[in-house]
Amino acid sequence: MLFTYYGQSCFLVEISGKKILFDPFISQNPLAKHIDLQSVEADYILVSHGHGDHVGDLLELARRTGALVVGAYEITEWAGKQGLQHTHPMNFGGKKDFDFGTVKFVHAMHSSVLPDGTYGGNPGGFVVTSAEGNFYYSGDTSLMMDMQLIPRYAKLDFAILPVGDNFTMGVEDAVIAAEFIQCGKIIGVHFDTFPYIKIDHQEARQKFEAAGLSLTLPEIGKTINL
Ligand code: NI
Ligand code: MN
Repeated sequence: MLFTYYGQSCFLVEISGKKILFDPFISQNPLAKHIDLQSVEADYILVSHGHGDHVGDLLELARRTGALVVGAYEITEWAGKQGLQHTHPMNFGGKKDFDFGTVKFVHAMHSSVLPDGTYGGNPGGFVVTSAEGNFYYSGDTSLMMDMQLIPRYAKLDFAILPVGDNFTMGVEDAVIAAEFIQCGKIIGVHFDTFPYIKIDHQEARQKFEAAGLSLTLPEIGKTINL
């Protein structure tokens, strides 16, 4: 499965020829100045919650690409009021089959308000299962006991977890999260974008290695094969 990182918590996964983009925040990301927003393509845009660093480029990208926007009911309602009609609302515990695979919307422990102050519902994460592999993106969250349910839904090939601390889990809790979800291959996101969430990369990788796990801190604009 091809995975392209666009900074903060924005990444693109390609499954069965479909492009699934998560949490678009590129044009206002100080670390992603070399990414041309016009070059980003999507068939689906999955949104974990309403904070600006996850929906900053949602409207523009969805309008240009015509991608189906998938997220909490409150987020898709808001998107509808901004003129996006091609949306798919979800709520917790629900799963839905799309043409690339199945998406289950799961809890995250965080907050959610849209940039204009509109209530964003509760923040979430996604478990994606497909013929080409399974993964979990937690969204912005603390460590939480509910993560222990994830292995009941899917045997994960990899997981995308925040590691930047301060607003979300830091590295130490992400190591425990990896154990809860029974996944040894973690892609770290939500780090370095702002001074509050700067991390020591080497130290982060060492903490995962010490637990027998692997942490990849992806490079913005690069594609890796997972
Ligand atoms: Ni957030
Ligand atoms: Mn965030």
